[in-house]
Amino acid sequence: MSVAATFLGGAKSRLLPASVPFRFFASAAAFHVLMWLVLLVNADQATSFRGGLGSTLAVVHLLTLGVLTATAIGASVQLLPVATRRTLRAVWPIKLIFWLAVPGTVALIGGMYTGQTSVLIAAAVITSVSLLLFCGLLADNLRRAGSLPVVGAYGWAALAALILVIALGAALAINEEAGVLPDHAAAALAHLILGGFGFMGLLALGFSHILIPMFALAPAPAKRPSFASFAAASVAIALGTLGALIGSRDVLATATLVGLAAAATHLWLMYRVLKTGMRKRLGLSFVLVRAAWIMLPATLLVGLAALYGLAGENGATLFGFLLLFGWLLTFLLAILQRIMPFLASMFVALPASGGPAIVSEFAGAASLKLHAACHAVALATLAVAILVDNAAVARAGSAIGLVGAIAFAWFTASIIRRIVPAK
Ligand code: HEM
Repeated sequence: MSVAATFLGGAKSRLLPASVPFRFFASAAAFHVLMWLVLLVNADQATSFRGGLGSTLAVVHLLTLGVLTATAIGASVQLLPVATRRTLRAVWPIKLIFWLAVPGTVALIGGMYTGQTSVLIAAAVITSVSLLLFCGLLADNLRRAGSLPVVGAYGWAALAALILVIALGAALAINEEAGVLPDHAAAALAHLILGGFGFMGLLALGFSHILIPMFALAPAPAKRPSFASFAAASVAIALGTLGALIGSRDVLATATLVGLAAAATHLWLMYRVLKTGMRKRLGLSFVLVRAAWIMLPATLLVGLAALYGLAGENGATLFGFLLLFGWLLTFLLAILQRIMPFLASMFVALPASGGPAIVSEFAGAASLKLHAACHAVALATLAVAILVDNAAVARAGSAIGLVGAIAFAWFTASIIRRIVPAK
């Protein structure tokens, strides 16, 4: 039975009320606009960012917490129960997570932007509590989900990484005031690796084993190479974290090479899925998926070059940019524009007039085309701005990114308007 049939069979019985996942998707779309706006206003400080409180760190967390984590929570609380055929025990914990995570993220961004450490620390505690609650929810679902061993393995590893991200994030915040960490920069790099490659990266790779076969109407990838790719990715992240904490370039370089092997295996598996899939025309979202698939090895190669001073003055900044904007943001926006209409179609009856179903109606939306074009140009422009360390070019790239984010928010609002019951 194909992944799509497994997934769709009985999906309706495990659907959460539409407002639950869509509140996370709506906040992600709003934080996405805010992220580009803050980057536009403060572009002069971004091209050579090397950590530390300020506007660029606020931009990093508008992206990582506001957009990526919110999307991951919204998607996983709905997709996992459907995929694992295990309903969530209750819905109120997800609403509690939302009402802690969103205000917590706003306060954390405020503390980072203004440098007010008392706000930063209080917000770090609230955000940490919301993410730990999510860890509990995810663990409960994964514990009862034996039917998808590869996805389960990625889920557990992403969960472990998230717990370490939270611990390091809270420690980094407290360290701004109390100076408890032996090496702040080392902890910040470990936090980046665990957050970007660990939590978000492993979730993106794991969900690809459900979503890509489902969209391409293909069988799931073979188990043995899937587990080999998972093992290599986990070893790379563990080595990368260790290399960051002990400040060892050799260990970081080894981690990057193992990461490249994991990425190559994963991309080969995804290529096989598309090749064996019954659906060949996958639309605009898969232009973004393929772009993200190119960004993953590009990120690792730039990281390796930066380790040896071969990626220019701002090599480390370019590495972080390609990781968060190039791979993760591009991939997540590609998946989000597929799952939102798909989920909405579960709540909206087919038009009596016989018009197109919501999925095909939104597939070619003008707002998505505008977003995709702006996203691509913005990323290329910002990569150049970082390489030549030019604030004016960075501002131009951010302005184009902002137009794209507004288009994506428009798309999100159009979907939500369709599922909000008419008065
Ligand atoms: C409880 C949630 C979190 C808190 C309290 C937190 C806190 C922090 C703090 C205080 C820093 C500043 C380090 C410095 O001085 O440079 C930082 C850096 C960073 N954080 Fe977070 N963070 C959290 C979650 C995340 C998540 C989920 C991700 C990624 C998915 C992430 C990605 C980053 C990145 C990329 C940096 C920049 C690292 C660097 O400075 O080199 N954070 N975080």
